[in-house]
Amino acid sequence: MKEKLDSILLNAKEEILKSNNEVEMNVVKSKFMGKSSEFTEIMKGIGSLSPEEKKSVGVLTNDFRNSFNSMFDERLKNIKQEVLNKKLESEKIDISLPSKSVKVGSLHPLTHIRYILEDLFVSMGYDVVTGPQVETDMNCFERLNIPKDHPARDMQDTFYITSEMLLRSQTSSVQVRAMLNNKEKTPIRMVCPGKVYRRDNDDATHSHQFMQMEGLVVDKNISLADLKGTLLEMARCLLGKNTNIRFRPSYFGFTEPSYEVDVSCFKCGGKGCALCKNIGWIEILGSGMVHPNVLRMCGYDPDVYTGFAFGVGLERLAMFKYGITDLRGFYTNDMRFLNNFNRKDVE
Ligand code: DAH
Repeated sequence: MKEKLDSILLNAKEEILKSNNEVEMNVVKSKFMGKSSEFTEIMKGIGSLSPEEKKSVGVLTNDFRNSFNSMFDERLKNIKQEVLNKKLESEKIDISLPSKSVKVGSLHPLTHIRYILEDLFVSMGYDVVTGPQVETDMNCFERLNIPKDHPARDMQDTFYITSEMLLRSQTSSVQVRAMLNNKEKTPIRMVCPGKVYRRDNDDATHSHQFMQMEGLVVDKNISLADLKGTLLEMARCLLGKNTNIRFRPSYFGFTEPSYEVDVSCFKCGGKGCALCKNIGWIEILGSGMVHPNVLRMCGYDPDVYTGFAFGVGLERLAMFKYGITDLRGFYTNDMRFLNNFNRKDVE
């Protein structure tokens, strides 16, 4: 019996040492100690032995079990240690390695322009407000003194959702909301930056979606001089303190009188160059004195209150300021384009 158990133990030892993981170990265990193993057969036979034989075989089987278990446990411990060592090795951190460079994001050029303008107007006591991009025809046109069928509607090719709802084609709609929302009819000083939409084909200078910033001041005794002073301040803040502005008469339904405003070319100082197409001036915005009809429709008495308004396209401003020639760059999110504005000297 002893020889038999010794030879089984020898086989078991060999297989235990060959096992490389817990699964293989379990296979070995069930092969040598499981229900249908030779060892279990021997154990089953003990019952029918004589008392002396029982005793001696009992000692032998105990020794066998103890030897098997200690070999098994030892190998399992080693396997676990090997696994742990491998894991530690693979997760080792070399703290002396130089760090990977972290890419820092930057403001989108349009956001940059918007912040500059917002800061300026907040410093002059304006509120920064927002309005919805899906707007009513009423707020986008009717209350701005542009009734249905008025030829001025042709100035903006609008995306209509229904006959009464549209994607706003101008942030001027927020003028209406600011005045209507002011239930006490107190003075207003607000700017509203935001997206607007028009049915334009996208090219280097047109986009079906772009950004405007609207300005509105309503108070007693507001005059054209206030509008001029404010816009001059804005132009100089954005384009440098030597910048000048000029007003050209124009037409917008919601202002009377209305003006288009040019800035002196900041590249050539007004002498004429490629940027200003040799004119010396660059058109940047529309403005005017708020039409009495608009004040009246929005609940302000035009005999008591006057106001001025302006609307400026931010892409156009950014293009001139940063020398960008294709407007589509603002919307394609090409990092090579955007990274140009991630510099300290871009202001
Ligand atoms: N909303 C006009 C446009 O998109 C721009 C504009 C002109 C806004 C005159 C104004 C204004 O507030 O007074 O073309």
